[in-house]
Amino acid sequence: FSVPTPKNEPINSYAPNTKEREALIAKLTEMRSIVADVPMYIGSEEVRTGNKQALTSPHDHQHILGYYHEGDATHVNQAIDTALAAREAWANLPWENRMAIFLKAADLSATKYRNELNASTMLGQSKNAYQAEIDAACEWIDFLRFNVHFATQIYAEQPISSDYVWNRLEYRPLEGFVFAVTPFNFTAIAGNLPASAALMGNVVVWKPSPQQIYSANVLMKVLKEAGLPDGVINLIYTDGPLTGDIVFKHPQFAGVHFTGSTKVFQHIWKTIGENIHKYKSYPRIVGETGGKDFVVAHKSADAKALAVGLVRGAFEYQGQKCSAASRAYIPNTLWEQTWEYVQADLNEIKVGPVEDFSNFVNAVIDEKAFDKITTYIANAKASDNAKVIAGGNYDKSKGYFIEPTIILTEDPHYTTMCEEIFGPVLTIYVYDADKYEETLDIVNTTSDYALTGAIFSQDRYALEVANKKLVNAAGNFYINDKPTGAVVGQQPFGGARASGTNDKAGSMLNLLRWVSPRTIKETF
Ligand code: ALA
Repeated sequence: FSVPTPKNEPINSYAPNTKEREALIAKLTEMRSIVADVPMYIGSEEVRTGNKQALTSPHDHQHILGYYHEGDATHVNQAIDTALAAREAWANLPWENRMAIFLKAADLSATKYRNELNASTMLGQSKNAYQAEIDAACEWIDFLRFNVHFATQIYAEQPISSDYVWNRLEYRPLEGFVFAVTPFNFTAIAGNLPASAALMGNVVVWKPSPQQIYSANVLMKVLKEAGLPDGVINLIYTDGPLTGDIVFKHPQFAGVHFTGSTKVFQHIWKTIGENIHKYKSYPRIVGETGGKDFVVAHKSADAKALAVGLVRGAFEYQGQKCSAASRAYIPNTLWEQTWEYVQADLNEIKVGPVEDFSNFVNAVIDEKAFDKITTYIANAKASDNAKVIAGGNYDKSKGYFIEPTIILTEDPHYTTMCEEIFGPVLTIYVYDADKYEETLDIVNTTSDYALTGAIFSQDRYALEVANKKLVNAAGNFYINDKPTGAVVGQQPFGGARASGTNDKAGSMLNLLRWVSPRTIKETF
């Protein structure tokens, strides 16, 4: 049988005076007016420990959206035990039942819960309505629907047989539990990491970033209402190192689905290695980490398209996308015109809270991020090797606001050309237009990361040179477009080198990591 052919979820514009905007504003007002009490979800239980931690808005940090109940080692163990107790029934459930649950979750997210998913992401993660819509609504829904589509293709794939022999592949779930560790910056990714593993018949312990708990709670409500059985995904709010210490020593640990920092991912990998003798099977290690994503222009590039790519690529969601453009290489012959267009676009940008839909840039996620990002800006202001040519102001009195900032440098290895900042800061190096190929070599070798990158050029020969020289510099390579905004089913997402295991979220490649196939040969 077949499942509905997925189509990407249409994006709401939230244009002024539309009923969609009115409904979203009503949900924002409602959510701001209450103080939510957010439990952990372990099996059938909503766990309230009484150890309450505040959930605040990054753009209004004195406003308390609610409190979540923090857990300890007991809850980590309880989540693992509960997941394992649910495993047999879930793993043995004919897979169309699992598909139906996630398809229903997609439908609920597209309708009844759309505003709550978006509003919780806007308030809790300071993401404007348009950025929330392409994340917490559309990308999340697309992950759910496309994963079902890809899973059916996986299950249908069988080896050849002959007259007297019947060969079969049984796509078993992993033996044990999967640990999902998820980031603050995309509600869709936070939901997809546990959901994709569960779709393939696995049970999951899910630990979100504390800054995303407010919207994780909504994701969990959707999954429960869609009929996800108790214990399949267990959502806990516990300290990272404490949780890791228990999970990675557990004999039934079967895999980790991770999105977050390179440092944490490498630590996880090392810890798994140290405990390898404890496990039944070699665990799956699937991770997407950081990026130092580039935009490089050839002298033939369209300056206007380039400017749009730079501004949107660097500053949407305050540059807090692992895919964000953060270093650019522009030929001197194109610079003046590009800079005029960039300035014109920057003049249109407003910075402020998400409740005002005209604010393109909102707050960065928390004080720690604010301090880190603004230190880079302050250092650039004080440096002889760099010049802040746009933005550069910041203020954390009410929310963690940082102006979209552009640093110009004559040193292609200046700090902000090399290090991941994860904020609204773009560094530009203007190169001699005759040194295109040498510049591509610098692009390729400047960073250990290889997540996304973009080339702007109207010259096919120049494009081909970049294509070859940068073949390993990005897992998602964009031609004449910004390096962000991969769409599920269209641009499978992920990078190699220090950026992760490149298991392409939202594709069959990723789902294959969550099964352990058994080959059965039957002779007649
Ligand atoms: N998948 C996200 C993007 O492409 C990170 O921007």
